[in-house]
Amino acid sequence: MNRRSLLKAGLTTGGAAVAAGALTIPAQAAGDPVITEIQDWNRYLGDGVDAAPYGKPSEFEANVVRRNVEWLTADPVSSINFTPLHELDGIITPNGICFERHHGGAAQINPADHRLMINGLVDTPLVFTMEDLKRFPRQNHVYFLECAANSGMEWRGSQLNGCQYTHGMIHNVMYTGIPLKTLLEEAGIKTNGKWVLAEGADAAAMTRSIPMEKALEDCLVAFKMNGEALRPEQGYPLRLVVPGWEGNMWVKWLRRLEVGDEPWQQREETSKYTDLLANGKARRFTWVMDPKSVITSPSPQAPITHGKGPLVITGVAWSGNGKVKRVDVSIDGGRNWTTARIDGPSLSKSMHRFYLDINWDGSPLLLQSRAMDEHGYYQPTKNELRAERGENSIYHNNGIQTWHVKADGTVENVEVS
Ligand code: MTE
Ligand code: CO
Repeated sequence: MNRRSLLKAGLTTGGAAVAAGALTIPAQAAGDPVITEIQDWNRYLGDGVDAAPYGKPSEFEANVVRRNVEWLTADPVSSINFTPLHELDGIITPNGICFERHHGGAAQINPADHRLMINGLVDTPLVFTMEDLKRFPRQNHVYFLECAANSGMEWRGSQLNGCQYTHGMIHNVMYTGIPLKTLLEEAGIKTNGKWVLAEGADAAAMTRSIPMEKALEDCLVAFKMNGEALRPEQGYPLRLVVPGWEGNMWVKWLRRLEVGDEPWQQREETSKYTDLLANGKARRFTWVMDPKSVITSPSPQAPITHGKGPLVITGVAWSGNGKVKRVDVSIDGGRNWTTARIDGPSLSKSMHRFYLDINWDGSPLLLQSRAMDEHGYYQPTKNELRAERGENSIYHNNGIQTWHVKADGTVENVEVS
């Protein structure tokens, strides 16, 4: 299973790739029939406005789909699929291709039958219907959700060939919801209320303890994603949004919030979602997703097919600590770095899109990206991470990814030593 290939940085990269100047993209040869002949779509009427009450992508985009890794999918109701990051641009993940992670399948809930209860150390225990919740003042925020296990299979070496698989347990969505603070204050938090337990209504009854400070800071109880209702697989009709923190805490199908004076020590915060160190001890309550980035194109599933010349290198970066301030890109395995251009909104705890436009001379590249957040925290190399945390872990791998671009434009997942 482990295809680890180690390359000596620099040895395989030859000529320089310099910043793009004037574009020299060749014009099509004369007599191209798609220009000289009238095409069917030009000759005949297209579909009417009644053809697709709810629209779908073009049939030519049929490969832009979530995918599984077969050997990770013992049973689809307790598994994961991955966002096709290599096909996306900008910062928003479209609803139909947001990765899914369920521990007990995707619950199908009629919102008329859904309730949110607040109990525990509160002045007044409360139960809300969905209609009740939609009468509270609401907010809109764009946040990334990254599973703590994203890139987990890469801890011991490069393994999965594609950023969809190595980095696709992430999505970036605009949520509409009510600040958790509003609802907790409606119930009245008792002075010894220091933690909140969030519980899901699915068969897994996912439960996580969240410190009160975070609950009051920026958590949302969300019912919409990218403007429309949450998708069933994303927790319809209600999910918790825990900005910048590991995806496991973002309880879907949210049905109960209990206020307590200490964490509950649930399975998902003891045997799971803890990081086993080399000395046998485990890091616990490792909530924040640290700065991370990946080049999405070129990448193994998005090879270079146009030959040498102008090449758009692009990728995404994010940090659970706030905004990404800078992304550097290396084409020689981390020896030299060039600051990439961040384009589009730069929002706290949201994905950022970066570009480096170069003139590729056709020689092999060792592509890397490195994010730095607004607090000056740099994304580490994989070896720096292993030196700190050993090789047992699955969670919180934010190490620098390397793609080996070969002269023929194909790309492979590798590590540099
Ligand atoms: N909430 C419930 N109720 N049940 C679950 O199985 N999975 C968690 C979290 N919330 C889960 C849940 C995990 S591990 C992650 S990474 C995120 O939801 C995934 O969210 P998504 O399916 O919207 O990508
Ligand atoms: Co997860």
